[in-house]
Amino acid sequence: MAGRVITVSILGCGGRGGETYGTIMNGQKDKWKINAILEPNPVRREKYGTLFGVSSENRFENEDDFFAAKRSDAILICTMDRIHVRQALKALRWKYDILLEKPISDDVEELNDLYQAYRSSGCKIMVCHVLRYTGMIHKISELLEQGAIGELVSIDHTENVCFWHQAHSFVRGNWHKSQETTPMILAKCCHDFDLLQFFANSPCHSLSSFGDLRYFKKENMPEGAAKRCLDCRYCRSCEYSAPRIYMNLWDEEGRKQNVWPINAVTDAYPQTEEAIMKALREGPYGKCVYQCDNDVVDNQTVIIRFENGVTATLKMEGFTAHGGRDIRFFGTKGEILLAEFDGIIRLKTFLGEERIWKISELGYTPYGHGGGDVGIVNRFYDVVTGLDQAPDTSLEKSLESHYMALAAENSRLHGGALELLENYRRHD
Ligand SMILES: NC(=O)c1ccc[n+]([C@@H]2O[C@H](COP(=O)([O-])OP(=O)(O)OC[C@H]3O[C@@H](n4cnc5c(N)ncnc54)[C@H](O)[C@@H]3O)[C@@H](O)[C@H]2O)c1
Repeated sequence: MAGRVITVSILGCGGRGGETYGTIMNGQKDKWKINAILEPNPVRREKYGTLFGVSSENRFENEDDFFAAKRSDAILICTMDRIHVRQALKALRWKYDILLEKPISDDVEELNDLYQAYRSSGCKIMVCHVLRYTGMIHKISELLEQGAIGELVSIDHTENVCFWHQAHSFVRGNWHKSQETTPMILAKCCHDFDLLQFFANSPCHSLSSFGDLRYFKKENMPEGAAKRCLDCRYCRSCEYSAPRIYMNLWDEEGRKQNVWPINAVTDAYPQTEEAIMKALREGPYGKCVYQCDNDVVDNQTVIIRFENGVTATLKMEGFTAHGGRDIRFFGTKGEILLAEFDGIIRLKTFLGEERIWKISELGYTPYGHGGGDVGIVNRFYDVVTGLDQAPDTSLEKSLESHYMALAAENSRLHGGALELLENYRRHD
């Protein structure tokens, strides 16, 4: 039934739950009402509880208290990677429809447990592969479907992580330690695997992968570097200097409140230069990149064969000047380039036709994954209200990307061994 106001609860009011989906939903009052939040961090609980107008008795600190009753129609699970399944299983018991952040889990058995519970629940689960809901991906999919380049033969896909994003998330931040979180190839590239199997229009047959932590180690530290950038003689000259990175990024955003990644550096609200500097003096984001206890990769390459014969390479590269994806599609009659940072899609056929589309004219917005964050919230509404019965990123459709990422990590850990995807799939 469309036109209904859906009540939601948000688990985890950080970059995704608070700043992204919560903020979007709070701005769509004709569709959503945020009834409850679960957030152990008191500053974030207060901040987003107030911003979203959540009553004080519905601002939960403790997971058991939150799950003691049903709080809303739908739930957003936006906590860190390793607790998604635990919370999703509890949510299914209360019959919530779920918007579930990726990655779902890095454990094949856990993926299957969730799938089985979901199958018998009658609930809906949408996984946040937000890029599927962007104009640029719709355009590529349309061109491939129309046969604009004939038969698709192979894909060359680079996920440009960007040097400062690598340092922020995978050296200093949430995903820096393999014991505490999911492998980088899953955390960063499950979107890319999802896109690749979608474009190839086939399940994956097998893959192999290489990669390592090449650079962010003590042996590459400049002589005499301090433990923290603010105390370091290389503070102005180092590419990875925290004050340089964060103050430049904040300036680029016009010193706007609450923008990522500044809101990951400090919980202070309002954000001030003083608060950011304090966080860089005391918190993880001000540490020397050569002296963190990080152990995750900074570069990884995967080669892939799909069951229909299409092949692909996926490169997850930390050492890039900017973010965004560069993807080339090679077909029997032409090729397509998607250059996200340059803002274009270019089709060239072997008969000499050339067409260029500006991504900005395909429903793109420069923030929020090119419009994908708003796109998925809108689609989730259609799913919860029954307008969309078969969402592109339902749980069952999202499992394949996770199997591929886990196979890639296993392959990397075993010197590039060939991994067969049939060994990962558990469900029918
Ligand atoms: N879809 C995407 O494109 C995309 C982009 C970035 C991150 N993510 C994913 O979103 C998830 C959250 O990332 P983030 O950047 O918002 O992280 P974050 O650290 O900013 O937010 C997570 C929040 O969860 C809270 N939390 C911790 N334990 C909790 C619990 N038991 N119950 C409720 N809340 C709890 C933390 O205090 C924190 O505020 C991650 O799994 C990440 O991989 C997805």
